[in-house]
Amino acid sequence: MRALHEARADFPILETQIGGKPLVYLDNAATTQKPSQVLHASRHYYEAVNSNIHRGTHLLARQATEAHEAARVTIARHLKVTDEREIIFTSGCTESINLVASALGRSGSIQAGDEIIISALEHHSNIVPWQMLAKRHEASLKVIPCDEQGVLDLDAYRSLLNEKTRIVAVNHVSNAFGTLNPIKEIITAAKAAGAYVLIDGAQSIPHFEIDLSTLGADFYTFSGHKIYAPTGIGILWGRHEILESLAPWKGGGEMIKEVTYESSSYNDLPFRFEAGTPNIEGAIALGAAFDYLNDLGLPQIAAHEQALVQQTAAELSEIDGVQLYGPHDRVGAVSFNIKGIHHYDLGTLIDQMGVAVRTGHHCCQPLMGRFGITGTVRASFALYNHEEDVKRFIEATQKALMMLR
Ligand code: ALA
Repeated sequence: MRALHEARADFPILETQIGGKPLVYLDNAATTQKPSQVLHASRHYYEAVNSNIHRGTHLLARQATEAHEAARVTIARHLKVTDEREIIFTSGCTESINLVASALGRSGSIQAGDEIIISALEHHSNIVPWQMLAKRHEASLKVIPCDEQGVLDLDAYRSLLNEKTRIVAVNHVSNAFGTLNPIKEIITAAKAAGAYVLIDGAQSIPHFEIDLSTLGADFYTFSGHKIYAPTGIGILWGRHEILESLAPWKGGGEMIKEVTYESSSYNDLPFRFEAGTPNIEGAIALGAAFDYLNDLGLPQIAAHEQALVQQTAAELSEIDGVQLYGPHDRVGAVSFNIKGIHHYDLGTLIDQMGVAVRTGHHCCQPLMGRFGITGTVRASFALYNHEEDVKRFIEATQKALMMLR
């Protein structure tokens, strides 16, 4: 296993200088930077293998198909999935959730009067597809509330569950506050009520080992770009028997067996849900990203990131007027506001000092509404961040405050 401090040098973009100082990149919950190993996999694909997959008989087409399918196996093994047909390539978490919502609707799984449960901590991508589904089928959307710490109220959740609940869709870790949700309990209660469960793993997959063989969920989704791979690639994992029972959502090449003008029969899993030429390079690069992470070891990465998160939260809370959001044991991100200061102003000033954070509602407008705010400043961490980044971020924040107050 490689030492983590060596890994920082794998990320060429971190050599960027801003105002004569190295970039401090703390917007990893929005997207992570890419290591040379992943960039190499993308480049090698286009330079040496580029061809369409599952179609041609020529050598390059066979090599591209093999590389694409090998990536599927790598990803399956990382997630402890033994049947790689359960791994569907999508363009990202948003598409994965839309796929499930749409396919459940087309399969007759949602009827008038049915209920869909989400949580107060969801990203818009885990709200809007369910809202659209509920509207189409005259179902209703229920929301698990959270407390002042941004922690979900499990008693309220249990009281929302009933025989009309068709699906529970919650995130594993909140992108806005870093709350780690008790998904084991959420899944167990949903299954006891006979509902499907979808876990949005966009913010957990970079920070934890995920074992889908024991988790008990029905669907798990994430985006590649938040785990050191390119944008435009993501994963939907679903249980084989459930995926088999779902109607396809997008029609086109590759998802069919036979087509006539009158009707079509559909392909086997996973291809039934992968219409059209896929993001071949993205899938291969995502496989390379998992290889890269496995080389470093996620437990080592998680311990390192957690130390930085805790240090950041502790140092921020020393600053006069700081309000932190989320529980003490937050994961990956520290979200905050400073009394009398607009999050956008603070973010803009520290950006000028070379520190990149996200400001605003983090695609969680209902959550911001719950806290009576329009947004926060969010510093979010990845394996390549180090203590110097925290130091620079805190210094920049203090300097900006002197200018703003
Ligand atoms: N979901 C991404 C974020 O939290 C874009 O910033």
